[in-house]
Amino acid sequence: FSILDLRSLEKTKIDFLFSIADSVAASKSAPIQGFGKTGALLFFEASTRTRMSFETACARLGIHPLRLDGSAGSSLEKGETLEDTVLNVEAMKPAFLVIRCGDDLDLKDLSEKISTPILNAGWGKKGHPTQALLDAYTLRKHLGTCSGQKLLIVGDVRHSRVAASHFELAEKLGYEVALCGPKEFLPAQPPCRVFATLKEGLQWSTATMALRVQLERHENKYSLADYRDQYGFTAKNLQSLSDQALIMHPGPINQGIELDSDVLKDPRCKVLDQVSNGVLIRQSLIQMTLKEGE
Ligand code: CP
Repeated sequence: FSILDLRSLEKTKIDFLFSIADSVAASKSAPIQGFGKTGALLFFEASTRTRMSFETACARLGIHPLRLDGSAGSSLEKGETLEDTVLNVEAMKPAFLVIRCGDDLDLKDLSEKISTPILNAGWGKKGHPTQALLDAYTLRKHLGTCSGQKLLIVGDVRHSRVAASHFELAEKLGYEVALCGPKEFLPAQPPCRVFATLKEGLQWSTATMALRVQLERHENKYSLADYRDQYGFTAKNLQSLSDQALIMHPGPINQGIELDSDVLKDPRCKVLDQVSNGVLIRQSLIQMTLKEGE
């Protein structure tokens, strides 16, 4: 039961995952299913939310997390490859491997070499399936259903693994994705509708998500003040969004560029609820993984 992308995850499994998350949210104590088990959390790239939510999920399920953060202190420093690192950790028989990595590690190829489930925790530009799942769960929680929702993704889509996963998930769950942002930030061939202005996009949407401007990739190319003015989630720009619509961001946020700090207090803003839902979704995924492995 690996989750490498969302194309290959059946809708029935997504519905089941969300129903487990509902039960986890409703119950006061977590079911302890993992005593004596370990789960490997291999974060070859930086993370706060994904890493700590998987860790929280492990704690709630009684699973001992085996953590590897970056290369510091591991034999990667001595030149061991990422693939060898994963294969050696897998030989210790964890119940699952959670992996965040760049495009240089081929998770698909790895999953064919090992029998332990791999949960993709952010893989280069390819995808971030658990983020898209927790976003969709947030849509469903606040808007009743994912089907028929209109999600406007704003900003740096070209480099975004979150957007890549939403394109896959939207087809499964029946919500529509549209984009808005500077031409240079959008895919050369957008797979969906593109709005020329933020105002038009916000008026169309039932939920909107700002993406982090990946400053490291756009150095000196854009005036950040112009970006904020045209595409930033500011109180002024968000006047075009309906009162019932949701404001989201996968994090981390460049406050004052793609989203202003006062927007975090807007009742439509669900950014921290996304983070809480991330624990529910990742805990539920681990529960499904353990169940399938029995
Ligand atoms: N949204 C997300 O993946 O955040 P982290 O990089 O902090 O895990």
